[in-house]
Amino acid sequence: MSIIMWTSELSVGVERLDEHHRRLIDLVNQLGTAVASHDAQQVTGLVLGELTRYVFYHFGEEERLMELAGYEDLTAHRQSHRIMAEHVRTLERNYDADASKVVAAELYAFLADWLVHHIRSEDLRYKPALAAPQPIA
Ligand SMILES: [Fe+2]
Repeated sequence: MSIIMWTSELSVGVERLDEHHRRLIDLVNQLGTAVASHDAQQVTGLVLGELTRYVFYHFGEEERLMELAGYEDLTAHRQSHRIMAEHVRTLERNYDADASKVVAAELYAFLADWLVHHIRSEDLRYKPALAAPQPIA
C-alpha cells in the first residue's frame, strides 16, 4: 500500500490550506498503513469519523478563501466539494450500520485517489487567484 507524499508540487500557495491538505493526506495514510498491517477494522472507523469532520471544515475554509478572492470557478469547485462531502458522510453511515461491509483497502484506494486528483486538478487551479493580493477583509 503506497503512502501519499505531500510535496511542494501539491502546494496551492496558501500555507493554511496546504496544512489542511497535509492533515487530510495524513488521515488517509493512517488508513493505508492500517490496511498494510492488517489492522484496518478499528482504524477505519476512527479515520472515517475524523475525515468526515475535517473534510467539512476544510471545504468550508477553502470555499471562504476562494470567495474572498473572487475566484471565477467557485460554483463548480463548491459542487465538487458537496459531492465528496456527501460521499464521505455516506461512507461513514454505511460503516456505522455495518462495519464489516466496508472494505478498508478499497476505501483507502478511493480516498487516496480522490484527494490527490482533487488537489492536482481542481485546487491547483485556484492558486493564481488566491496568490493575488487580497482586499482587507
Ligand atoms: Fe478543493
